Amino acid sequence: MAHRHAPLVHLCLLLLFICTSTSADDCVCTSQYFCNCNSKNLTGVPQSLNSFVTILGLGNNRINTLESNDLNRYTHLEHLYLYGNRMTMISTGAFRNLEKLYELELENNELVVLRAGAFQGLGSLHTLELNINKLQTIEAGVFNSLSSLVVLYLHYNELQVLTPEMFQGLGNLNQLHLYNNLITTVHPRTFSHMAKLQYLYLFYNKIHTFDLSSVSGLTNLRRISLYNNNLTSVPQGDTTPNLSGVTHFNMLTNNIAEISANSFSGFDSLQYLRLSYNKISTIHEDAFKTLHDLRELYLNGNSLRSLDGQIFSGLGSLRSLSLEQNEIEFISSDAFTGLTTLTYLKLEDNKLKIFPVEPMSGLRVYNLYLQRNLLTSLPDMAYRLLDRTSRVILHQNPWKCDCRMIDFRRLMRGRSFEYQIVCDSPDELRGTWLKDVPLPNLTCAIPLITWFEVTNSDPLKEGNTLNLFCEVWGSQNPEITLRLPNGKHVLSTLEQKGRVQVLPNGTITIDDITGKDSGTYVCIANGIGGDTEKSLYVPEIMPNPFAQDSLNGVHMSKLAGGILGAIAVAALVALVVGTVWYKRRRTQTDEQVLVDNAQVNETPEAAGETAIDVAGTTEDTITETRA
Ligand SMILES: *[C@@H]1O[C@H](CO)[C@@H](O)[C@H](O)[C@H]1NC(C)=O
Ligand SMILES: *[C@@H]1O[C@H](CO)[C@@H](O)[C@H](O)[C@H]1NC(C)=O
Ligand SMILES: *[C@@H]1O[C@H](CO)[C@@H](O)[C@H](O)[C@H]1NC(C)=O
Ligand SMILES: *[C@@H]1O[C@H](CO)[C@@H](O)[C@H](O)[C@H]1NC(C)=O
Ligand SMILES: *[C@@H]1O[C@H](CO)[C@@H](O)[C@H](O)[C@H]1NC(C)=O
Repeated sequence: MAHRHAPLVHLCLLLLFICTSTSADDCVCTSQYFCNCNSKNLTGVPQSLNSFVTILGLGNNRINTLESNDLNRYTHLEHLYLYGNRMTMISTGAFRNLEKLYELELENNELVVLRAGAFQGLGSLHTLELNINKLQTIEAGVFNSLSSLVVLYLHYNELQVLTPEMFQGLGNLNQLHLYNNLITTVHPRTFSHMAKLQYLYLFYNKIHTFDLSSVSGLTNLRRISLYNNNLTSVPQGDTTPNLSGVTHFNMLTNNIAEISANSFSGFDSLQYLRLSYNKISTIHEDAFKTLHDLRELYLNGNSLRSLDGQIFSGLGSLRSLSLEQNEIEFISSDAFTGLTTLTYLKLEDNKLKIFPVEPMSGLRVYNLYLQRNLLTSLPDMAYRLLDRTSRVILHQNPWKCDCRMIDFRRLMRGRSFEYQIVCDSPDELRGTWLKDVPLPNLTCAIPLITWFEVTNSDPLKEGNTLNLFCEVWGSQNPEITLRLPNGKHVLSTLEQKGRVQVLPNGTITIDDITGKDSGTYVCIANGIGGDTEKSLYVPEIMPNPFAQDSLNGVHMSKLAGGILGAIAVAALVALVVGTVWYKRRRTQTDEQVLVDNAQVNETPEAAGETAIDVAGTTEDTITETRA
């Protein structure tokens, strides 16, 4: 058929001015209700079709305007396809007789402006597709007559500013697709009257601020999608918005730097919150407190350096927490408090140096991702945590296979994660699976100082006792020496000799301190393969008005208070490091039996790096001399 008509079409093309009204022969009508005139090079609406047609395809033609009378005779139309034409405008009243029209496809045209009255008469319209045009202007009230409209496609246009006037009359709208425009500004209350709105898609625009008052009170609203915009903060309203129906809120790829307190109040039913690939470095402790129904929280690809306080404590329904691709170095011990339903924890591609034993001890996750961090060591508690996790990814961490790994190594029993722990140092073990390293080869001939800190919890005052703790790991019980700010050295001993006591386990006490006791302290560990030292600055010691009158009752009670305080601190320290310490001592005992003294290959530099890695807060210096 098409072949036989080709010469006629060519003739028409040549004599275009004569053939403006195309004959019905161009269309394929399979019944009186359905005519397919798609892709026929039509320049206008055919006028000779059966007026009972309900489905009319005019897509992919060359129609460039729709005049007000063009569709007058097709009053039974329900579906009209005008996509892929060259329309730059729609005349007022062009559809005014199509009161049965249900679906109107105008996508992929050249529309720049929608004038008031363009859709007049379309009282039954359900779906209007205006996507892929060049729309810059939507005149006030253009959709006024579309009281039945449920779906409105406006994506891939050039809209810049959205106002409430543009969308008047869309009280029945369920889905509004506005993605891939050039929207910078959304005026307050733009969507307020869309009581039935369920899906609002605004992604791929340039929105800088989004006022939640524009959607507040829309109790049917389920999804707000604002990804790939230019938001610099989480959207807020003037007052707490009522967004009790919203389950999905997507702000992926914006410029948000901070999540402040109560950022999500009003989002009472939120289940999926995406904040990935922003610039978030700060999260207020109360930011997520109200999100009791949240199931998935995405914070990956941000600039978080630490997880402080109980930031996730309100999230009692959370199943998946994505924190990968940040710069997280530190996770506070209570950071994951309250995450009782968490099964999926993603922490890969961060800067964790210490395995988060304490933060994780209350969790029961099934999937744990820790690959590509800076982890060097695994304590035995880590084995217990990993052992109860179904899926563990740990590879590409710079594991240091030394004496600190002995207890972990001892617990290994062939779990699959054991095949991910490949030694990075010392040199002679690089590339070897930890599971294949014999216990005697896990040595610390040059000791490691992993911690040297003040353990007093209160500010230091004259007359108090200063408590320090120097945690040392090493083969064959390294000897500890303390250098005082005045340059004097005190060797560790179990005997009480004077005001300064250094115990072999690293517990240090300095009684009855004065201003002269502030300054730099150095903990020196002398091992079989060399010395390691780590310094600590003890800041100013406050004068204590009661310290002068040394024998009055006030002083004595202060002193008693101080002693009680010191005991409390010591108990705390014992609690925190007790397990580790116990293991170290066991380790050393074992090593005395097992270690081959001659085998000392570790460099002092390597030991120093580890000391910095693990503690990171104090200055480190390593003596170059070897014993
Ligand atoms: C429409 O016009 C183009 C170019 O003018 C021509 O190549 C094409 O074959 C025509 N299509 C039909 C269906 O006639
Ligand atoms: C986003 O906002 C920032 C700051 O207001 C501006 O400098 C930048 O050009 C914006 N980016 C885009 C893509 O609009
Ligand atoms: C939010 O709106 C819903 C429905 O109108 C209502 O039931 C609920 O009480 C409102 N919540 C608040 C906090 O105002
Ligand atoms: C462990 O040490 C022994 C003795 O030095 C050595 O022969 C062996 O190769 C070492 N094993 C590994 C896995 O490095
Ligand atoms: C260190 O040793 C002393 C004396 O044996 C003991 O009282 C203290 O609890 C020990 N500290 C730790 C942290 O093990």
